[in-house]
Amino acid sequence: MVTILDTPARYGLISRALHWGMAVLFAAQFASAAAHWALPRENALRETLWSYHTTLGTTLFLLVLIRGLWGLVNLARRPRDVGPAGRAAAAGHLAIYALMVIVPGSRILAAAGGTRGFSYLGAEVFPAREVEIAWMQIAAEWHGEMGWILALLVLGHAAMAVIWHQIIRRDDVLRRMA
Ligand code: HEM
Ligand code: HEM
Repeated sequence: MVTILDTPARYGLISRALHWGMAVLFAAQFASAAAHWALPRENALRETLWSYHTTLGTTLFLLVLIRGLWGLVNLARRPRDVGPAGRAAAAGHLAIYALMVIVPGSRILAAAGGTRGFSYLGAEVFPAREVEIAWMQIAAEWHGEMGWILALLVLGHAAMAVIWHQIIRRDDVLRRMA
C-alpha cells in the first residue's frame, strides 16, 4: 500500500520522493563540483556544469530543510534500526544531514555578508554590501572540503545500502526506501 506518511515498516511516499529526488540532484551537484576541480577554466563542459552550481546548491539547501522538518514530523513512526549497528547507521545519517545543511549554508551565509549580493531564480535575496562582514566568510573557506567529505559519506552510505544490506545480508533496508 502507498502511504504518504512513514511507517515502521517503510518510508512513505514523500520521504522516498525527497530521498531519491535529492539523490539525483546531489549527483548533478557533485558533477558540477568535480568539473570545477578537475577541468581547466576555459573548458566548455566545466562552464556548463558550473553554471548551475549556486542555483542547484541553494535549491538543495531549501529541500533539505523541508526534508528535515518532514523527518521530524515522522520521527516516532519511521523505520528504526536497533543495536550498535543501528545506532551507527543513525549517526551516519545525522552526519549526512548536518553536512547537507552546513555545506550550502556556509556559502549562502558568506553571500549574505558579501559585497556581490545574492539572487535566487532571478529574485534578489541579499543586496550587495559596501563592506564585507568578515565573520560571515569564515565557514565558506571550508565549503569545498566539507562538500567532498559529504560526497565520501554519501558514497559509503550508498555502498552500505547496496553491498551490505542488499547483496550480503539480503535484509529489507533498501526495500523500505525503494
Ligand atoms: C549541497 C550543496 C552544495 C554542494 C554539495 C557543494 C559542493 C562543492 C564542492 C565539493 C566544491 C569544491 C569544488 C572544487 O574542489 O573545485 C564547491 C565549490 C564551490 N561552491 Fe559549492 N556546493 C554546494 C552549494 C553551493 C552554494 C549554495 C553555493 C553558493 C551560494 C556554492 C558556491 C561554491 C563556490 C563559489 C565554490 C568555489 C570556491 C570554493 O571551493 O569554495 N556551493 N562546492
Ligand atoms: C544510490 C544512492 C543511494 C542509495 C542506494 C541509498 C539508500 C538508502 C536507504 C536504503 C536508506 C534507508 C536506510 C535505513 O532506513 O536505515 C537511506 C536513507 C537515507 N539516505 Fe540514502 N541512498 C542513496 C543516496 C543518498 C544521497 C545522495 C543522500 C544525501 C546526500 C542520502 C541520504 C540519506 C539519509 C539522510 C537517509 C536517512 C533517512 C532520511 O531521513 O531520509 N542517500 N538511503
